[in-house]
Amino acid sequence: MADNIGNIDAKEYYLGVDGVENKSFHVKGAEHLDWGMKNRLAKIFNEKSGNTVMLAFDHGYIMGPTSGLERLDIVIPPLIEHVDCIMATRGSIRSCISPNIDKAICLRIGYDSSVLYDDMSNGGGVACNIENAIRMNATCLAAQTFIGSSGEKNSLELLAKTVDAGVKYSIPTLGVVAVGKEMERTTKFFQLATRILAENGANIVKSYYCDDFEKVVAACPVPIVIAGGKKLPEAEALTMAYRAISEGARGVDMGRNIFQSEHPEAMCGAIGKVVHENFTDKEAYEFFLDIANSKNE
Ligand code: R5P
Repeated sequence: MADNIGNIDAKEYYLGVDGVENKSFHVKGAEHLDWGMKNRLAKIFNEKSGNTVMLAFDHGYIMGPTSGLERLDIVIPPLIEHVDCIMATRGSIRSCISPNIDKAICLRIGYDSSVLYDDMSNGGGVACNIENAIRMNATCLAAQTFIGSSGEKNSLELLAKTVDAGVKYSIPTLGVVAVGKEMERTTKFFQLATRILAENGANIVKSYYCDDFEKVVAACPVPIVIAGGKKLPEAEALTMAYRAISEGARGVDMGRNIFQSEHPEAMCGAIGKVVHENFTDKEAYEFFLDIANSKNE
């Protein structure tokens, strides 16, 4: 085992240098996967832009009826046409989303401690096994990990089990970097966490935008999508998305900054413009305002 004392800091990221692989398939690190995996990843990541807009509405699985998500059956369906993939729990999808949708489904397969506990990394486990994920026609399995917390071991075991089950049926895994109460939110932390998830088999990693984000992306051998985090003013959320995409994120897995907006559909559309159509943050904000104002008329 490598000695962790006196390591030389990582510094050569070959920024701007294309990977030697990824010539025949548009998803980073997926060149050597089989047909079924690639087919599912291609449903998530648009072939033309190489990117994805994932709509996260899984917050209730630990937080209960989060603001904006009180009524999933009313809030979520109109947003689906604007995104490539929905990310949620099986209970919310089964009960509130029509099976007629033609979008990728990223299924959260674990449970974690509720917000009644001080630290959500306390403990978790499998909430939906692979057979049920297949019944839900999951395109991707999402497993949350708590690197650097007391829940690290449990969550890495969950990730490993998820990856193994997914590989068996050619379903990719999204590894989610959690930032619990005790955890740092530094570039170094996100580099560590994203790389650990990828090396443990995640095909996509969800993390947070941070300083020196391009170094986090460069050192992670699979695509990173960013979470939105707490609600920001729309212009700021679009700037964060724009910066993340400009610095190498392959998409967003965004929740509150969409469904807590006064105009969730307009926000969803504006995010899509940044992710897929090379809009700048300012152009996307103008797009947002145009749609929002037309709804207000
Ligand atoms: C966090 O683990 C949850 O999966 C959320 O879905 C995720 O944080 C994205 O939502 P938001 O953009 O609201 O942070």
